[in-house]
Amino acid sequence: MILDAISHRRACRSFKAESVPPALIEELIKAAQFAPTARNRRPLEFIIVTDQKTKQAIHDALVPQDSVVQAPVIIVPMADTKVASKPREDLALATENIWLQATHLQLGCVWKHVHDGEEQQKLRAALGIPENFLVINVLPIGYPTEMPTPYTDAEFDSKKIHREKW
Ligand SMILES: Cc1cc2nc3c(=O)[nH]c(=O)nc-3n(C[C@H](O)[C@H](O)[C@H](O)COP(=O)(O)O)c2cc1C
Repeated sequence: MILDAISHRRACRSFKAESVPPALIEELIKAAQFAPTARNRRPLEFIIVTDQKTKQAIHDALVPQDSVVQAPVIIVPMADTKVASKPREDLALATENIWLQATHLQLGCVWKHVHDGEEQQKLRAALGIPENFLVINVLPIGYPTEMPTPYTDAEFDSKKIHREKW
């Protein structure tokens, strides 16, 4: 069952205009907050963006990608580096949980990367994120207009498995 859910999680970059009910967005945040965090520090906070002007500001801060302005909602996960032990790892695991729960809810999602340095600073400025919060991605989410097909055994690569030693 879980492998089936995992196989259906794909990157969605094209969304319908239909908005996502707040109760479903709350489920996505719940999924993120149930992810493991290093030393159980629980350093993550989230901005939920539905305002079109704010989405445009996010779009303009990053390498352009249409899905950022097209998606009805964007979740911005942030890790408090004053609290976190392994902020990037915590963010990545929370992202995967959001992505999987979105898949379960028939929602599309994509990891839109936020590069360290200038991009991250521009995003912080656009959203008023304090300096001590790390952002590695933003997550455009919505009902998909198209989705890649689920993974199958054709993508399973047994040659990459090493037994006992390389
Ligand atoms: C670290 C990381 C960065 C990514 N950055 C982007 C991105 O900026 N824009 C985008 O559309 N997809 C991005 N993706 C999504 C990947 O392109 C996508 O997951 C990959 O092509 C595999 O496709 P799948 O998600 O459908 O399995 C990123 C994924 C990861 C893990």
